Amino acid sequence: MTPQERILQLRAELHGHNHNYYVLNSPTISDYDFDMLLKELQQLEAEHPEMHDPTSPTMRVGSDITKEFRQVAHKYPMLSLGNTYSKAEVAEFFDRVKRSLNEEFEICCELKFDGTSISLTYIDGKLERAVTRGDGEKGDDVTVNVKTIRSVPLVLSGSGYPSEFEIRGEVLMPWSVFDRLNEERARNEEPLFANPRNAASGTLKLQDSSVVAKRSLDAYLYFMLGEDLPAEGHYENLMAAARWGFKISDTTCKCSTIEEVFAFIDRMDSERKNLPFATDGIVLKVNSLRQQKNLGYTAKSPRWAIAYKFQAERAVTRLNEVTYQVGRTGVVTPVANLDPVQLSGTVVKRASLHNADIIEKLDLHIGDMVYVEKGGEIIPKITGVDTDARFMLGEKVLFISKCPECGTPLVRVDGEAAHYCPNDTACPPQIKGKIEHFISREAMNIDSMGPETVELLFNYGLIKDIADIYALNPEDLMFLPRMGAKSAENIVAAIDASRQVPFERLLFALGIRFVGATVAKRLARAFVSMDALMAASLDELMAVDEIGERIAASVREFFSKESNVELVSRLRSAGLKFVAEEEEVLDRTEILKGKSIVISGVFTHYSRDEYKAMIEKNGGKNAGSVSKSTSFILAGENMGPSKLEKAEKLGVPLVNEDEFLAMLEQ
Ligand code: IVH
Repeated sequence: MTPQERILQLRAELHGHNHNYYVLNSPTISDYDFDMLLKELQQLEAEHPEMHDPTSPTMRVGSDITKEFRQVAHKYPMLSLGNTYSKAEVAEFFDRVKRSLNEEFEICCELKFDGTSISLTYIDGKLERAVTRGDGEKGDDVTVNVKTIRSVPLVLSGSGYPSEFEIRGEVLMPWSVFDRLNEERARNEEPLFANPRNAASGTLKLQDSSVVAKRSLDAYLYFMLGEDLPAEGHYENLMAAARWGFKISDTTCKCSTIEEVFAFIDRMDSERKNLPFATDGIVLKVNSLRQQKNLGYTAKSPRWAIAYKFQAERAVTRLNEVTYQVGRTGVVTPVANLDPVQLSGTVVKRASLHNADIIEKLDLHIGDMVYVEKGGEIIPKITGVDTDARFMLGEKVLFISKCPECGTPLVRVDGEAAHYCPNDTACPPQIKGKIEHFISREAMNIDSMGPETVELLFNYGLIKDIADIYALNPEDLMFLPRMGAKSAENIVAAIDASRQVPFERLLFALGIRFVGATVAKRLARAFVSMDALMAASLDELMAVDEIGERIAASVREFFSKESNVELVSRLRSAGLKFVAEEEEVLDRTEILKGKSIVISGVFTHYSRDEYKAMIEKNGGKNAGSVSKSTSFILAGENMGPSKLEKAEKLGVPLVNEDEFLAMLEQ
């Protein structure tokens, strides 16, 4: 077999495995074997750039940085659906359809997926483009990002698909991914996503598709459009789409009577709680395309379809107490302690009250009967008080003025909703939280230590701050409850190894407010050493790309505290990396300073990612699309025709690989 044949064989095989795993949920090979095949394909494709194919399974990892998404007009506008909230309104819809058609009809019943809608165009069985809803008339071309969604087929299987058609559906973030993402964002002090819908749409708009690839989005399709569709029924078209490799929910079904429709609603209202993703209702569609055409559209939505929205589940229960939690940065969160109550399949005993303003607005009193809702968010929240159920007014809930853990008076920064405990050097949950953050995997990676060990070490007085970690020896640990000699040694070895953790991660590990992993990386690259960073002024900090006043001020404040300066100096004595890695800094030049460079095509000497890194290392900027501010295009083989055309139009020069490398040789 020639390498070219092997490439084609591997592609077909890998497309099949992707489909088995992500669409059918029934893999037929191990992850390891899959990775091996993918590696082999990557290797072969690198050796045979002439075989480049944007729909190869290797294109799912993402790489291009898109500065701005191209706007694309929808061939057919993306409309919305009329909403109903009661079965009576559903019955009205059913009657209206019956009267208008005056003949037999079927209704296709589907879930209303709570994500962000997408329109996919396939030409000759290959994914051509993926566009967001936008304003319904035109949307953003997010093809690079959608390609990373494993359940979206890049190449169709089977036969009978039109040579060109569109299929629309919903991009979703499964609950498990959403929870993991928010936990990570909480650790990095990044703002949390309110619900999986926002997380999915935010992710689709990210400029770095390799980050999108890591977010494990999923996609369900529910609407096919085109000239020569395989069937006259909507449901039948979806079933054909399933055979071509698309993910179609197996809850989708056809009904003929209103009773059957109601039964579907009831079944889904209870079953949706067990689904791995969010749904907010069901969608009913007249099945026959001919009848759909007959019924037509209003200005905004089809007359042949309607959405029935589920009631957000709400429970009523008694508020027993408000307690307060102190996080690692000192933010104090009020928590409502409730009589246990059943809500969306789980027992709720606690709910977030967010902040003092919200407590005030609710006019909460202890003993009140309160409404609890889950509505898309992870933590249930209190949405109101049943004042009619108040036969005796309990004590009014007033936000505390002192830290519940250490007694320090709380402070509230002007313009912010949260209260802080300012005692960051001695308030126990702050110290423990800071230590837990410091040892976490993304930070110093001493995670064999774990929160329980931190708790014990803190309670036994063995560690009072992060620098104390480096004075621990196996004997200190061995005598802790539930700790053997072997684990004690492992922990000390992990502590020792953490001395080699790069400066940028140490900077993140320090837990400076608003300095998440990405900001830490930027600061480390810009200032190279701890000393330079500590000496940097507010203006110097703000001169760094993407560092604004809020972050700069927080960094200044951190290093202006005597206690932090001392802490940092003890970490220095412990032998931690205070200077950025050589490779990141040393061979940096300014040869490409001020240049905005677009990479396009396939390369022979280095990969696209390597060229991107080279551009950044040499002071240039890698841009995603060609504009009049583009300095030049680093052009490989098979450069995209639209980029080429644009470059010619704007007079942007093309530089080939060899010329580019020569430029850096200077
Ligand atoms: S059909 C012309 N089917 O709901 C009808 N939409 O309010 C096009 N959605 O923008 C939509 N699940 O994002 C349809 N099974 C489903 C759906 C669904 C969720 C979303 C979609 C659309 C919005 C309409």
